[in-house]
Amino acid sequence: SREELDEIYAFAVDLGKRAGQMLKDAAQLRMDGSSRTKAQDEHVQKMNAVDLVTETDEDVEAFVKTEITNKYPSHKFVGEESYSKGVRRDYLIDENPTWCVDPLDGTVNYIHLFPMFCVSIAFIHKNKPLIGVIYAPFINQFFSSCAGRGAFLNETQKLPLIRNPIAPMPEKAPAGCVFSCEWGKDRRDIPDGNMHRKIESFVNMAAELGGRSGRGGMVHGVRSLGSATLDLAYVAMGSFDIWWEGGCWEWDVAAGVAILLEAGGLMTTANPPPDEATCLIPDVKLGSRLYLAIRPAGPSATETGRQSQ
Ligand code: IPD
Repeated sequence: SREELDEIYAFAVDLGKRAGQMLKDAAQLRMDGSSRTKAQDEHVQKMNAVDLVTETDEDVEAFVKTEITNKYPSHKFVGEESYSKGVRRDYLIDENPTWCVDPLDGTVNYIHLFPMFCVSIAFIHKNKPLIGVIYAPFINQFFSSCAGRGAFLNETQKLPLIRNPIAPMPEKAPAGCVFSCEWGKDRRDIPDGNMHRKIESFVNMAAELGGRSGRGGMVHGVRSLGSATLDLAYVAMGSFDIWWEGGCWEWDVAAGVAILLEAGGLMTTANPPPDEATCLIPDVKLGSRLYLAIRPAGPSATETGRQSQ
């Protein structure tokens, strides 16, 4: 019901704040170099040399999981660190009320003290991401959304923030657009392999879609933040026009998808079988590996005119 969803939203917002504070404290210790124990936050490899986990990932996940299972014992919990330790996983999202959590998205950023890292918490029901909370504590940005209630930055500013009343993006794209895309973790450089395809796409976006196509106007920029869920928050904000990544998991995108859709953005997937067969969300298909997100169009010129009168 509406009341139940609102209650879950309030719980998720509070939980996101507390988990984000844990990340902030841990990162501050790392920054100060003040502790030789926990603050060192030794990281270990998972799949390969760029797939890393720190003590902080695990501590925050344990905290969030305990809070959720105490409050909602019948809900399912899907967390990055509980699932990514080697065991081949089945499709994780289904009809049941499910929490999908990345305790620290942007782990490499966190390790290198680049501030684009966050906690990412989503509540999903009947395969729909209904609630999203993303807190990037080092830049004081807190994104949240609840189906039917809107998407917000720092709880007060409604998303999207960036509006383009004169030229809604699709008409002039790629001119004036900012693309965001991620390198992901699969660095196999085999012919037609992951790395090869990605480099090609990045170069195409930066160059071909820039001036060379002669179609007038240049793409404004290509970005790679290192946190898929934050990328989606910035698409929801309207700062990024387009985002794509091939290779991320449910927890990398779930909260971002909730926020993006609530802000009026679009998200689609483009996976080859057999993954496609396991994608149970018709529009977003959480559990896919390849995603494409497009920013909200924002209000039309007439709407904006009306608003400013
Ligand atoms: C990663 C980040 C990164 C993306 C990877 C993710 P993690 O998540 O979102 O931007 O390219 O696909 O796995 O490991 O930092 O939680």
